[in-house]
Amino acid sequence: DKGNHRHFMAKEIYEQPETISHTLAHYVDLAAEQVSLREKLPFDFAKLSRLTITACGTAYYAGLVAKYWFERYARLAVDIDVASEFRYREPPLPENGLMLVISQSGETADTLAALRYAAKEGQHIAALVNVQESTIAREADVVFPTLCGPEIGVASTKAFTAQLTALASLAIAAGQARGVLEPSEAHALVRALIELPSAVSEALRSEGAIEEISRGLSRASDVLYLGRGQMFPLALEGALKLKEISYIHAEGYAAGELKHGPIALVNEDMPVVVVAPSDELIEKTLSNMHEVAARGGKIILITDDEGAVQAGDGITDILLMPKAHPFVAPILSAIPVQLLAYHTAVFMGTDVDQPRNLAKSVTVE
Ligand code: F6R
Repeated sequence: DKGNHRHFMAKEIYEQPETISHTLAHYVDLAAEQVSLREKLPFDFAKLSRLTITACGTAYYAGLVAKYWFERYARLAVDIDVASEFRYREPPLPENGLMLVISQSGETADTLAALRYAAKEGQHIAALVNVQESTIAREADVVFPTLCGPEIGVASTKAFTAQLTALASLAIAAGQARGVLEPSEAHALVRALIELPSAVSEALRSEGAIEEISRGLSRASDVLYLGRGQMFPLALEGALKLKEISYIHAEGYAAGELKHGPIALVNEDMPVVVVAPSDELIEKTLSNMHEVAARGGKIILITDDEGAVQAGDGITDILLMPKAHPFVAPILSAIPVQLLAYHTAVFMGTDVDQPRNLAKSVTVE
């Protein structure tokens, strides 16, 4: 049932304040404002030598955000790869390493194969899944759930933000167990997560402005997405969402890579979506953005009030998001990139919930 939405994808985008809340309530003791894991861990975060993350598509981008979190907040070394590459690389895996696979369906063939390889190589196996009865869940030593309900739209939306919410909580747990996060620091991060659902509701209210921008985007044949640091995976996710449902060619790049090639593509016909909430890296990203603007590129900047002031003039479109703690900014920024792809696809008249050539669950490699 789509409720009063035209597509399941729209309904699922709008469910995110609740699905994030449900997922958070599983990982966080809301009264104590502390992460409190219900799962019995078959490993000790304090003693882990390395975390290896493997997944496909959007789940892989969730893992890529988590790499920034685990490295920064838990000082845990993280290796990450798409499952289709990981499974054939025959990577050496360390003693006392943890393999974390991420999968909405829990049935993705490559992700399952990567899990089995890691199990054979003696890794602890954790799975972050939405479908609790899935094959991947059954084969893991510990299962972390996302609690977003069934996802019907082929393009993943609410599963992505639920994965990020769970991963953020796990990164805090790891940071505390490893003695990296002081209680007050951990508490500030948990507070940011608790405040997230209301910020997501607020972000959803910018739909009108996003629809306007999408009208222009639907006339483009190529779109570039840029982000830096933990926003880089959001650039990748934004580009993936746009191409899979609108069929417009899009590429996500780390903002700093721009001058190593892709800037050659920039002209007046190329919209460039810059995902840059105000944080310690925004100056760098904005300077990349101005390089694009100087070459006539049309810019769509996703930022907050502070970022908009720093950005100055010459920006074609600014999409204002609520100000959030930088820790949760990747989760909040998922909303505008999802809505941008959704409305662009609606303008194009594509089959949003069932894009051509795609299946919800990829059970063959
Ligand atoms: C993109 C999308 C896919 C999936 C990928 C992994 O919107 O939905 O990229 O994220 O096929 O699927 P799961 O998470 O089921 O392993």
